[in-house]
Amino acid sequence: MHPTLALTVACLPAALVAASNISSNGTTVPDFHLPPQNLTIYGNNSLFAQWRTKARFRPSSNHIGDPTAFWQDEQGVFHVSGLYSYLRGPNISITSSIGSALTSDFLSYVDAHNYTNSSLFVNGVSIGPGNENDPLAVFDGSVIPKGYKGLPTLIYTGVHYLPISWSKPYIKGSEVQTLAYSEDNGATWIKPDIEPVIPGPPEGFNVTGFRDPWVFQAPQFAKLLNDTPETWYLSVSSGIRQVGPRLLLYRQNTSDFTSWEFLGPSVSAPVNTTFSAGNFSGNDGSNYETSNTLFLDENGENLEDGVNFVTMGAESGRETHSFHYSLWKMGRFVRSSVNESVILEDHATGVIDWGIGYACTTMPDYKTNRRLAFCWSNDDFNSTISEQVGYRIGSSGVYSIPREVYYKEIPGVVADDLAAENGYWSVATEYLNTTLAKDGVALAKANGNDTVILATLGCKPAREILGFRKHANQSWTESDFDVDVKSIKSNCSGVEFTEEEGVTRAFIPFQQSPHSRHWELQATVDIPESSLRNEEYEDFAAGFTLLHSSASAPSNYSVDDAAMLYRPSNETFMITREVALGRDNVNTDPEMGKLRLWNISSTNTEGKQSYAIQSLNIRAFMDGSFFEVYVNDVLTISTHLYYWYKDSTRMGFYLQFPDTLANSTLDTGVKFSNISVWEGVPNVFPKRPTKPAELIDNGVGFVQPPNNPNVPLTYDGVGAPPLPPAENLPYGIDLSTVE
Ligand SMILES: *[C@@H]1O[C@H](CO)[C@@H](O)[C@H](O)[C@H]1NC(C)=O
Ligand SMILES: *[C@@H]1O[C@H](CO)[C@@H](O)[C@H](O)[C@H]1NC(C)=O
Ligand SMILES: *[C@@H]1O[C@H](CO)[C@@H](O)[C@H](O)[C@H]1NC(C)=O
Ligand SMILES: *[C@@H]1O[C@H](CO)[C@@H](O)[C@H](O)[C@H]1NC(C)=O
Ligand SMILES: *[C@@H]1O[C@H](CO)[C@@H](O)[C@H](O)[C@H]1NC(C)=O
Ligand SMILES: *[C@@H]1O[C@H](CO)[C@@H](O)[C@H](O)[C@H]1NC(C)=O
Ligand SMILES: *[C@@H]1O[C@H](CO)[C@@H](O)[C@H](O)[C@H]1NC(C)=O
Ligand SMILES: *[C@@H]1O[C@H](CO)[C@@H](O)[C@H](O)[C@H]1NC(C)=O
Ligand SMILES: *[C@@H]1O[C@H](CO)[C@@H](O)[C@H](O)[C@H]1NC(C)=O
Ligand SMILES: *[C@@H]1O[C@H](CO)[C@@H](O)[C@H](O)[C@H]1NC(C)=O
Ligand SMILES: *[C@@H]1O[C@H](CO)[C@@H](O)[C@H](O)[C@H]1NC(C)=O
Ligand SMILES: *[C@@H]1O[C@H](CO)[C@@H](O)[C@H](O)[C@H]1NC(C)=O
Repeated sequence: MHPTLALTVACLPAALVAASNISSNGTTVPDFHLPPQNLTIYGNNSLFAQWRTKARFRPSSNHIGDPTAFWQDEQGVFHVSGLYSYLRGPNISITSSIGSALTSDFLSYVDAHNYTNSSLFVNGVSIGPGNENDPLAVFDGSVIPKGYKGLPTLIYTGVHYLPISWSKPYIKGSEVQTLAYSEDNGATWIKPDIEPVIPGPPEGFNVTGFRDPWVFQAPQFAKLLNDTPETWYLSVSSGIRQVGPRLLLYRQNTSDFTSWEFLGPSVSAPVNTTFSAGNFSGNDGSNYETSNTLFLDENGENLEDGVNFVTMGAESGRETHSFHYSLWKMGRFVRSSVNESVILEDHATGVIDWGIGYACTTMPDYKTNRRLAFCWSNDDFNSTISEQVGYRIGSSGVYSIPREVYYKEIPGVVADDLAAENGYWSVATEYLNTTLAKDGVALAKANGNDTVILATLGCKPAREILGFRKHANQSWTESDFDVDVKSIKSNCSGVEFTEEEGVTRAFIPFQQSPHSRHWELQATVDIPESSLRNEEYEDFAAGFTLLHSSASAPSNYSVDDAAMLYRPSNETFMITREVALGRDNVNTDPEMGKLRLWNISSTNTEGKQSYAIQSLNIRAFMDGSFFEVYVNDVLTISTHLYYWYKDSTRMGFYLQFPDTLANSTLDTGVKFSNISVWEGVPNVFPKRPTKPAELIDNGVGFVQPPNNPNVPLTYDGVGAPPLPPAENLPYGIDLSTVE
């Protein structure tokens, strides 16, 4: 927040040195080796180190999918895990297992099965498929810390037929919910000789999917349903064909968790609908996946009094991003009038990650009452070659940094029509009690209030991630910078302009840029209030260039250029990714998320009231090609920026404007402040080998972890591909070490 925008122009001198690589005699040798026309010219595994993250959860090699089966053990150690599968065609999701690693601080992880036995490559697999209840694959599950036999218990989806998709007819019996328990604190899971604990969808439900059981205690449900407060509930993510997505609620039937009673849907939406007319809420699609039910206050978890939230992956309501939206809903669970369930009265729906972050899943931190979420991002190459490029890299999929999710209030918001719209906000009527925005605004006005407290899902980097900064090799701040569209061309030096169809883009290099792709950028941006939702400002945007080719790149070379910017005319935060590799190789479509900046009323010490729109408070993280940005704790976008040149690391201010704006009387000043960069991140798997050859697993099938009591892997032959012949196993390893 800021009082008024200063219209002063304070341009910086030109940045001194273009990032490049410096030869022994001191002259700079820019990196201009051209990108390949087709990434598939390279050998398998040869791109292993090219864009690899250092500070994110990922297996040593092969594919990671949905984050799942997270839990915190009695020692407070977090078990971070996900769907793990071998990179071998044609369908990598076949034969998925769960692989995991342990951490206490998210700065350092140890694989569940580590590298002590060097004669046998061991990975993090703690449970694989192949038994009666899970013949083809293990899908997502969740953990009861003291469950079956009083031991850690995993309830997960066992897969019997493939493929499974919202867009294909559902083969009856494809997915069952089944149980395993652990005698070694989750290192391996034992499958007892019992039937699935939920053998199939409820009678009469023509489902689009039936998976991802989520187990939880919910005193608020217990009160509504007259259960004891300790009762466990379980939701299965699902949908009814042609009708809409559903979250199906079950209640524990027996003390050993082997039987569950269906109560009814706890979340229900019509097919392919959106909560917000203004695109602030994504789309509910036709099938939910990976749902979590949460009870949150401003610090994190509060089972007794927390506001009710549900997160879910929603399939089919989006043309891009593999038809996926990562959603959340907030509101109040009420007793259903038609069945034995509770049902969510939806007060707001939002998007957890507007980019490729999907299947977001949470875990408790009992020590601090927090809820931590991880979202999964797959690779993002041109779909015609993505599978082939996967073999070139030998590793695919990565998780976000842990995110703290919480109930967030925004006080002092002017009670106008904008606040009354349906979107990712509701109105707090009292602490931890919300109502639909329209009703809340009407209520405030009726009470003579000209402001409301908006309520939403807060999402910010976990506090542990500040620890990344301690691992920085260097850090610096950039001076505050005021710039005005009207004077930038005459008053500023060192600015690189590009013009296209009456729109100018200005890149104003920082005094200093990073030399690597492992950094955090923190900054604040203030834009003119008049630019919001104003068509006269069409094409006006401000933000930061994240990576830009060397200043001396010849004009006929393709360049790397990526930026994050806010476009006030349509309230859109964007990430552009015009990289040299081009559309034939990578997805270069911009990422977009809707973000409303609120008009906030404040009263000074003399009792005088003033209004100001919110600033953009940004934390952005680059790690290899993986980029994630957090704005105002309400907007998150994950994506990949597949740069090609090693020296396309220039960073700077970014301003974009239609040339007509330069001659207008409109306010066109932008203020950048609080800018810091930390370059260098921790290697969060310090115990792994650093040579790719030792990280790349050439094996197929699932390694049975030591003392894994599971019976050997068997296929029933339905849908599972034959193992590839030995000569097709990955090869072509680049022996350089991972940076
Ligand atoms: C400095 O080194 C570069 C690359 O090694 C070479 O191209 C250049 O000619 C050298 N310049 C001088 C002045 O020796
Ligand atoms: C410097 O440039 C050369 C040639 O473009 C490239 O092969 C090399 O990897 C670069 N070195 C660094 C440290 O970027
Ligand atoms: C890249 O190569 C792959 C096979 O190696 C081919 O399928 C694809 O069409 C090629 N793409 C382009 C744009 O040439
Ligand atoms: C491997 O795991 C064991 C048991 O968790 C642990 O004691 C040991 O320190 C680990 N070794 C390495 C190299 O991570
Ligand atoms: C269930 O869906 C299938 C299409 O997948 C359809 O043929 C069938 O009639 C539906 N059954 C019911 C009861 O709606
Ligand atoms: C929902 O949207 C998807 C993707 O656009 C489409 O394939 C599907 O037919 C739609 N479902 C209904 C019932 O309209
Ligand atoms: C929340 O507020 C609504 C209306 O303002 C009220 O009816 C309801 O009782 C309140 N709920 C709680 C749990 O306080
Ligand atoms: C009206 O404003 C007062 C004081 O700011 C606040 O305590 C009250 O909760 C508000 N009521 C509504 C309905 O917004
Ligand atoms: C905002 O406007 C830009 C430029 O017209 C457009 O590319 C983008 O799709 C719009 N964003 C949304 C979310 O509609
Ligand atoms: C993917 O690459 C093909 C060429 O192989 C191209 O025709 C297509 O437009 C690209 N797709 C996207 C979304 O850029
Ligand atoms: C803006 O004004 C300048 C100076 O008066 C003029 O040269 C330029 O053509 C004008 N540009 C537009 C887009 O109107
Ligand atoms: C690369 O690996 C894939 C998957 O194992 C295999 O199908 C392909 O033949 C390999 N390519 C080469 C050139 O060996």
